[in-house]
Amino acid sequence: MTIIGTPLSHSATKVLFLGAGELGKEVIIELQRLGVETIACDRYENAPGMQVAHRAHVIDMTDAAALRQIVDDDRPHLIVPEIEAIATDELARIEADGMATVIPTARATQLTMDREGIRRLAAETLGLKTSAYAFASDAETLVTEADRIGYPVFVKPVMSSSGKGQSMVKAASDIDAAWTHALTAGRGNQIRVIVEGAVDFDYEITLLTVRHSGGTSFCAPIGHRQENGDYVESWQPQPMSDAALKAAQGMAQRVTDDIGGYGVFGVELFVKGDTVWFSEVSPRPHDTGLVTLATQDQSEFALHARAILGLPVDTSLNRPGASAVIYGGVEAEGVRFSGVDDALSVPGTQIRLFGKPVAFEKRRMGVAVAHADTVDEARARAQASSAAIKVNA
Ligand SMILES: Nc1ncnc2c1ncn2[C@@H]1O[C@H](COP(=O)(O)OP(=O)(O)O)[C@@H](O)[C@H]1O
Ligand SMILES: [Mg+2]
Repeated sequence: MTIIGTPLSHSATKVLFLGAGELGKEVIIELQRLGVETIACDRYENAPGMQVAHRAHVIDMTDAAALRQIVDDDRPHLIVPEIEAIATDELARIEADGMATVIPTARATQLTMDREGIRRLAAETLGLKTSAYAFASDAETLVTEADRIGYPVFVKPVMSSSGKGQSMVKAASDIDAAWTHALTAGRGNQIRVIVEGAVDFDYEITLLTVRHSGGTSFCAPIGHRQENGDYVESWQPQPMSDAALKAAQGMAQRVTDDIGGYGVFGVELFVKGDTVWFSEVSPRPHDTGLVTLATQDQSEFALHARAILGLPVDTSLNRPGASAVIYGGVEAEGVRFSGVDDALSVPGTQIRLFGKPVAFEKRRMGVAVAHADTVDEARARAQASSAAIKVNA
């Protein structure tokens, strides 16, 4: 039985966010609605989630001592990691000391911050189908392994997200450039990469999987389009054959059962016909899942809030929908958004402007989400709405 206290009182149920971007912001709003006290941390001031939390701290979350200090001072019941670059070993100690519950578990944050950990678990321990892969800590090994796997290959730093330091390599002559590019995501010349054979998929999906007090539930599959490792638009539901959907759910169930804990997981899968490959998993709401703001009674953010509190969830889809990202397009502080009236004149559409203090060309500053009778119509609506917004320096 879940008991929720009164925020800012001795009885408060407190949740600490490590990372307070646009996804954390929506989860914080959902927790606020349930009367939970929220504390937001990030590396910079006025991060989106800080603007809606009860209080905020600017800290370097990779600094174990700083992290421990915040936990000692704030005494949260739950710690919700929103990004991967945090002192996960300290989280494991905090959990082991019984100071707070890490969502979904401290081990999950350790496993998934490192592509090697999660890939070896999925492919070698659980036997899930994945792309061919190898790891390399120097340029020579990378060349050897890429040759063995066969081009094209993807090269990704094991510690990186959102496509940072990642390349698609079509021929051996481009491998050196991929190695150098991977170094940009790491520190000095110390880097380890995964090299993966390219999967020739028909489409890729995010299968939002919720582990909650009543078991495991799946949202309808979300299709999405990526450019340079960053998501540009998503839609739900992605049509799939029964066999592919069953295989996808089976894989998601196995990997999330192994990880354990409560909350939403974004399970990324590639699909060709009835064949499904496991790609990666985030133990938290997923950016492509912003579409659920338009499609489900309980968005992925509401689902996460409920699940981590031990409350019942409902993952059902109301209506087809889509999301389209609003990029910065300019490099500037304190930007102004125009065209908001046009964007919101598109039927069935909502927008989120995240309130990030600084814009840059490829920074995600907002999103348009839409529902409609069909996915195609919803995609057209979300894109029209997103395109109507201008970001002005
Ligand atoms: N082995 C692969 N085969 C085909 N496409 C891939 C492969 N690896 C990555 N991609 C493409 O690049 C995108 C980003 O890769 P991903 O591993 O998810 O990195 P990130 O952790 O930065 O999201 C994927 O969503 C997919 O579109
Ligand atoms: Mg990904």
